[in-house]
Amino acid sequence: MRHLFTLDDLSTAEIERIFAITQDLKAKFEQGVREPLLPGRVMALLFEKPSLRTRVSFEAGMTHLGGGSLFLGEDVGWGSRESIADFGRVLSEFVDVIVVRAKTHEKVLSLAEHSSCPVINGLTDYSHPCQALADLYTVRERFSSLKGLKIAYVGDANNVARSLAEGCGKLGLTFACAAPKGYQFTADDVARFKKVTPAIDLQLTEDPKVAVRGAQAIYTDVWTSMGQEAEREERKKAFAAYQVNCALMKTAPRDAIFMHCLPANRGEEVTDEVMDSPQSVVVQQAGNRMHAQKGVLAWLLASQA
Ligand code: CP
Ligand code: NVA
Repeated sequence: MRHLFTLDDLSTAEIERIFAITQDLKAKFEQGVREPLLPGRVMALLFEKPSLRTRVSFEAGMTHLGGGSLFLGEDVGWGSRESIADFGRVLSEFVDVIVVRAKTHEKVLSLAEHSSCPVINGLTDYSHPCQALADLYTVRERFSSLKGLKIAYVGDANNVARSLAEGCGKLGLTFACAAPKGYQFTADDVARFKKVTPAIDLQLTEDPKVAVRGAQAIYTDVWTSMGQEAEREERKKAFAAYQVNCALMKTAPRDAIFMHCLPANRGEEVTDEVMDSPQSVVVQQAGNRMHAQKGVLAWLLASQA
């Protein structure tokens, strides 16, 4: 049984295979063809945090593939009305795949432990692998290949940053992360990145200008993630010098793209000017969530057949 908790669950060859399926399905979609590779398959979306992109891109993508989906919000009582184990055992009797967005990563792992169908992480406090797949696919579309490119991530070394770093390691990109003290990757994160991908090229700095130098993509995310709202004011102060604005973009190569997983807090981690600039690929990047997840679903469910 394969699950997708982090990008460490996929080999480089498997990510490339998912990208090949994504490219094929996206090209067909753009020609008006919705290839029904998963007729009659059912996906449950189990979400205990809000979502636009992840929820809708998975639901729309599964519909294109000929399957169906069920959105299960907090009222379904996962871990409150009954145990996570009972919930997972029963839900996986009904559906072929579960996409889960949870407050803690451990909750996803324990659901999967008791599930008889694949579980895909749709964001936890720890990682966001589907986001990183779409992000790297977007960079690949722009620059044709990925090896040797550099992504500069400016901001909180959070779930999104962690998954991107893993993906960059697997696909041969340099990952630079500029974050203030106290908001950088932990020593455990770095040790794990290096254990999984010994050749990973990580550049860790407190200086955004150092990170963006020579980078083809400048990436940021919110300073306060879902679940950290009580720290919002403290974080705004800590990250004040980490805004991606025109001055910072000017220190990057002229053909560099700007990326954000969205939703954005315009005026905080990024200015309107950068978000709406010709360098910004945020809408294409969000659109690619659907294409890349169709690739994941087709790959994962075909491999279970
Ligand atoms: N980027 C992302 O995962 O967006 P949602 O929170 O809207 O799903
Ligand atoms: N880091 C953000 C990403 C949202 C898609 C969060 O976890 O809230």
